[in-house]
Amino acid sequence: MKICAYEVRNDERKDFRELEQRLGVKIELHSQVPETGNAEFVKGCEGVTILGQGDINAKLLDCWKEKGVRYLSTRTVGMNHIDVEHAKSIGIQVCNASYPPSGVAEFTLMLMLMCLRNYKQALWRGQVNDFSLDGLMGMELGELTVGVVGTGRIGFAVIRLLSSFGCRILAYNRTEKESIRKYAEYVDLDTLYAKSDIITLHVPLTENTYHMINGESLKKMKDGVVIINCARGELAENDALIEGIESGKIGALGLDVVEDETGITHVDHRIDILSNQKMAYLRQFRNVVMTPHMAFYTETAVRNMVRCGVQGILYMA
Ligand code: COI
Repeated sequence: MKICAYEVRNDERKDFRELEQRLGVKIELHSQVPETGNAEFVKGCEGVTILGQGDINAKLLDCWKEKGVRYLSTRTVGMNHIDVEHAKSIGIQVCNASYPPSGVAEFTLMLMLMCLRNYKQALWRGQVNDFSLDGLMGMELGELTVGVVGTGRIGFAVIRLLSSFGCRILAYNRTEKESIRKYAEYVDLDTLYAKSDIITLHVPLTENTYHMINGESLKKMKDGVVIINCARGELAENDALIEGIESGKIGALGLDVVEDETGITHVDHRIDILSNQKMAYLRQFRNVVMTPHMAFYTETAVRNMVRCGVQGILYMA
């Protein structure tokens, strides 16, 4: 079996090479994001493994199929970048990765605390020897109500961490889980919006969840609500976030992901003109903490992502 790996970062190479030895597969490593222009990379490969920056549409899948690809694994949990239905219809099997949810959950808590304690502003001031306290007074998590949207593996891990802070935890999910009730109270989405001081998103990006944070949903929330997004940028409409920050409706934003981040995150753009105006505008507010889609990025997660990427193909074959 020969596998073509796209979007390979330097920190993944060692794990790929180890798996190659251990599992007796040949893996060709490419740093490029998959697109039709580099589809020839898959020549002679039955399996392809990718990360999340490409647009894996019908055209690209057809191209790969023609070249003999039968299995596609994404080393990400999210699969919103792949036209899975089309892949199935042309006989390409698809799988995603699974890695411990603790890394993203811990990062989520970090963003929440940074927002509550005005830490971005404190950090900026400290860099210029301004150690004043004016405007830095924070809020204590234990006194607040946190709404967790999505109680899958990551949402559950966030809830468990939150439970040690003593805050009230509300949860929303299409299907409710008994194990969550020990820590959180399930409510409908409108109640969660209305009662939460902090709202954190942990749902996949689908047609139903696209732009779930918009002008209308914001109106249902408390004034000064803190919103955390470590899931997918497109869950929240940039225009609504900007409007919310400018009007003060949103008290703070902790964004590890942002709408239209593809091609920007995970790339050094220091000497480029950024293509996403709204992202650049949002980033500069004192109460918007923005990180480059790195909540997943721990040694444990990366090891698991590479393993799933390779083993997933072998299981499907
Ligand atoms: C995921 O696993 O879904 C992530 O968000 C990770 C990232 C490399 C796309």
